[in-house]
Amino acid sequence: MPCTVITGAFWGDEGKGKIISYLALKDKLDVCVRTGSVNAAHTVWDKGKRYALHMVPAAFIYEECRLLIGAGSNVHIQQFLKEVEETRVESRIGVDYQASIIEEKHSIQDRTSAHLKGIGTTGWGVGPAIEERVRRTAKLAKDIPELQPYLTDVAAEVNQAIDTGKKVLLEGTQGLLLSLFHGTYPYVTGRDTSASAICSEAGIGPTKVDNVLVVFKSFMTRVGAGPLPGELTKEEALKRGWFEKAAGTGRDRRSAPFNFELAKKAVTINGATQAALTKLDVLYPQCKGVRKFDELPPEAKQFVNKIEEQTGVPIVFIGTGPDALDIVDRRE
Ligand code: IMP
Ligand code: MG
Repeated sequence: MPCTVITGAFWGDEGKGKIISYLALKDKLDVCVRTGSVNAAHTVWDKGKRYALHMVPAAFIYEECRLLIGAGSNVHIQQFLKEVEETRVESRIGVDYQASIIEEKHSIQDRTSAHLKGIGTTGWGVGPAIEERVRRTAKLAKDIPELQPYLTDVAAEVNQAIDTGKKVLLEGTQGLLLSLFHGTYPYVTGRDTSASAICSEAGIGPTKVDNVLVVFKSFMTRVGAGPLPGELTKEEALKRGWFEKAAGTGRDRRSAPFNFELAKKAVTINGATQAALTKLDVLYPQCKGVRKFDELPPEAKQFVNKIEEQTGVPIVFIGTGPDALDIVDRRE
C-alpha cells in the first residue's frame, strides 16, 4: 500500500476475490477500483454467505471502502443494480462517466457466433461490447438514466486518493494468460489483463503504483478452449480434489499442476513485486485454516519456497481456506 494492483497469473479464478476481501478487512482499504467487465466473477465469502461478484468490487465487505468502476470497464446495467442491492453499497459505489455499456445485443452476438463458441467465451458479450467501443458507437455510463446517481470521475478520485496517502487497490480480472496481448491467443478474453492495463482502465499512471501483487493458485485451472500444459483428466482432477466449476457460468474448469515457467512469465509481464498463493489446503489438506507459516506441513513450505526461488518474488499471502480470514499473512 498505498497503491496496489492485484492481478491473476494464469487463466483467472486464482482466488483474487478472496485476497482482495482479506486486504479490505485487514488493511482497511479506502478505495477499491474494479476493472474489466461482467464476464469475471470474483468469489467472496462474508459471514458464511457466498457472493459471486460480476460488477461490485470485492472489497465491498469492508464497510468504509469507497468502491469504483473505472473508465475502461464495461458496465452491465441490470447486473450492476442487482449487485448494488445485494451488497447494500448504494451510498459508496461510483461508476466512471466514460465506462461503456454492455447490452443484451452483445450477449446475443457472443452466443450466436460460431467463432466465439469455439473459443468458449462466457457468453456475456464482452468481446462484442469492446468491438462496439472500438467502433466508437458504444453507449457510455453518462448516457444511462439508471446510472446517474453513481456517476463520478474515477481517475480524478483515485489519483487524489493516492496523492493524499489513502490505501487504494486496483482489482484486475481474469489472468495474464487470458490477456488479448500476452495470453494464449486466440483463446483469450477481449482485453489486456496485465497490471499495466488495469492501471490504464482505472486512469492512473505507472509511477503511482507501489505494489503489484500477482495471485497464483496452487494448481492451474481454465474454462473454455485453448492450451493448458499438463492438463489432467476430469477423473484425475476429481481424485486429487482439484475439480472446480466456474463461479460465473457453472462450467467445468479444466485443471493442471502448477507450472513454474508460466508463473515466471506472469511475474515478468506484470512487474510483480509480491505474490499470493491460494488454495494451498487443496494440495495439502493439513494446511486447512492455518494462519501461521510455521504451522504449515514441510511439503507445503517447500512448495512455497520453490515458487519464490523460481519466480524471484516473495509469497506474502497464502490462502488456507475459503473464508476471507483463512490466510497466512507473512508481511507481519
Ligand atoms: P470472454 O471473456 O467471455 O470473451 O471469454 C474468453 C475466454 O476467457 C474464455 O475461455 C472464457 O472462459 C475466459 N474467461 C473470461 N472471463 C473469465 C473469468 O472470469 N474467469 C475465467 N475465465 C474467464
Ligand atoms: Mg472467477
